[in-house]
Amino acid sequence: MTALVIAMDGPSGSGKSSASRGVARALGLRYLDTGAMYRAITWWMLHHGVDLTSPAEIAARAAEPELTLGVTPDESSVTVDGADVTAAIRTAAVTAAVSAVSAVPEVRARLVAEQRALIGSGDIVVEGRDIGTVVAPQAPVKVYLTASPEARARRRTAELTGTTVEAQRAAMARRDTLDSTRKADPLVMAADAIELDTTELNLEEVIAEVLRLVKERT
Ligand code: DC
Repeated sequence: MTALVIAMDGPSGSGKSSASRGVARALGLRYLDTGAMYRAITWWMLHHGVDLTSPAEIAARAAEPELTLGVTPDESSVTVDGADVTAAIRTAAVTAAVSAVSAVPEVRARLVAEQRALIGSGDIVVEGRDIGTVVAPQAPVKVYLTASPEARARRRTAELTGTTVEAQRAAMARRDTLDSTRKADPLVMAADAIELDTTELNLEEVIAEVLRLVKERT
């Protein structure tokens, strides 16, 4: 039997992270948050004053930062050049800048190679935007999570402070457009993924549905 890889893709606010962790815990699998890797590189670029309006400059520096990442559902801390950036990569500044960095092919090539190395022989839940299409197209289970713009904005607002549902909805729409129209590995659903609309589901229901799909497909 080949080792299990569960690809969990979809836009932000679709409930990917909580569901992916929950599924990994329920099945005793490892967990890889690929968005954290794009965020960590973005944090480093901001920290080093890289001009994020210049894809050429981003590309030229893409190999410099050294990343480490915990790959279990209960230990997913991130370091860049030895500094713990687990909290820093979730700030509004990084969130606003990450689309520009993740659109650069040299950044993606580097991180996709590292993601494949971390996936290794499998037994892992991997969340991101291009897992089922690019990083692990051979994954036996691919889930594409969606939710209404309203539900996604409400969830993000509940996680953050000092923002409103309206502001979040606008910010997400901007990020969705950038993420799904970029030339390098845009956010698209894999042809063989199962779409799961989480608008009306709570976390336990989403996890149960993914576990059902895993059983069906393996
Ligand atoms: O899932 P997240 O919000 O932490 O992801 C942060 C950004 O990284 C998101 O705007 C898109 C990008 N990303 C990507 O391009 N490819 C991935 N596999 C994961 C994230």
